[in-house]
Amino acid sequence: MSGYRIEPLAKHDRKKFSCGSAELDRYFREQTTQDTRRRIAFCFVAVNDDDGEVAGFYTLAATSLALDRLSAEWAHKLPRYPVVPAVLLGRLAVATSHQGKRLGIALVADAVMRASRSEIAGHMMVVDAKDERAASFYANLGFERLPNHTFRLIMRL
Ligand SMILES: CC(C)(COP(=O)(O)OP(=O)(O)OC[C@H]1O[C@@H](n2cnc3c(N)ncnc32)[C@H](O)[C@@H]1OP(=O)(O)O)[C@@H](O)C(=O)NCCC(=O)NCCS
Repeated sequence: MSGYRIEPLAKHDRKKFSCGSAELDRYFREQTTQDTRRRIAFCFVAVNDDDGEVAGFYTLAATSLALDRLSAEWAHKLPRYPVVPAVLLGRLAVATSHQGKRLGIALVADAVMRASRSEIAGHMMVVDAKDERAASFYANLGFERLPNHTFRLIMRL
């Protein structure tokens, strides 16, 4: 996507980031480096080419889903192991001043590509949407809702 570059979080300035969700802002400002250091989740940022500021971020981590949580349609194509390896798109946010410019879509696409290229197998990408608006954002991008989970969605990698 022109105008932004997406790269692993390093020494970027996180203090000014504001996306409209206090919880996500707090996470990005206070928790990301600790999660990275402990290998709990890795964080990737979109940097605005014009001013070098962080315009958005997402996090990736390994996860797994119990096979019996999947719909019969998904499960019947998979081996009978009790759990399925997956990649968790744990958090995603775009700064308020950059929302509506398709950066959210670009960040999800980057996350899917990064996970697909990984040498560690993950059958699907999992997202936990924070509310119905976020769930419909992911559903519009092709994620499917897990049975009995309104806000957990998956996409095959
Ligand atoms: C949700 C969020 C990441 C979307 O980022 P964005 O860059 O503004 O979205 P885009 O410009 O890429 O929008 C892509 C499409 O999703 C739609 N969309 C954007 N935000 C949406 C939302 N919150 N709910 C539903 N649809 C949304 C847009 O209308 C657009 O649809 P269109 O192609 O039909 O026009 C961003 O609004 C955000 O950070 N919000 C606050 C935090 C949050 O809710 N995070 C969600 C993760 S749990």
